[in-house]
This record gives sequence, C-alpha cells and structure tokens, in this order.
Amino acid sequence: MRLGVWENEGGRVGKRAPLGLEQPGESRAAPWVPTVPLADVPDEGATHVDVAGVPVCLARSRGVVYAILDECSHGRVRLSEGEVADGAVECWLHGSTFDLGTGAPKCPPATAAVPVYPVRVVADVVEVAVPPPAR
Ligand code: FES
Repeated sequence: MRLGVWENEGGRVGKRAPLGLEQPGESRAAPWVPTVPLADVPDEGATHVDVAGVPVCLARSRGVVYAILDECSHGRVRLSEGEVADGAVECWLHGSTFDLGTGAPKCPPATAAVPVYPVRVVADVVEVAVPPPAR
C-alpha cells in the first residue's frame, strides 16, 4: 500500500493541476469529494459509495485504490458486490471481469467499458472526482 498523498487516474499514478489553475479554455476538473476512510476499502475488496448522486465502487487491489461506476455495463447490478483480484472486479451476476484502471471488460458477456474516475487518498480518506453529467 502506498502511503501519503497520491492519485490514481485510470490505473496510473500521477499528479493533477490543483483546482483553479486551469488555463483559459480548459474545462474545470471535477471537484474532489471525500468519501470513506481508506480502512473501509478492504484490500482485494470493494465498497459502495455515493458521490453527488453517482454510484461509485471503490476497490483496492495490490495496494492501489480505484474508483469505477458501481454499475455493470451488461446489467444494472453493483460491481462493488463482486470479487476483486489482480486489478479487476468480477460482476457477480454473469461473471464479466472489468479492469479497474480502465473500466474495460476483460471477458463476456459485457462488451462495453464502465467509466472510471480519478481517485486519491488524503489523510487516510479516499477522495473521488466524478465529473458532472453532460448537458
Ligand atoms: S450483469 Fe454483469 S455480466 Fe451480466
């Protein structure tokens, strides 16, 4: 497990420009929303949170925390109720497995990716940035 402040965007660890420092013409980043203590996200496990009305599956695998829409792209069931292993979550209903970093399905019957969101841990609290719905 990594300690301190870090970010995980689509499986990559990197830095994001602080809010309010975007260049003219750039879209504003979604705000970081504190969710649950890191201890509430078990290693090789997942938990459900609601971020501004969006269901989010927080998962931890191999010490990395991920945020992915908590809805399988094949059916409307929660991915947070599935099994997590090796950087992927398996849908409990029909067994499709999704890459936690990209949201891409790794096996059928699902064929569409699930959105993933930037996530970071600040002072042992998991924060997620979910963009507002498109208008
Ligand atoms: S509902 Fe998830 S694979 Fe079918």
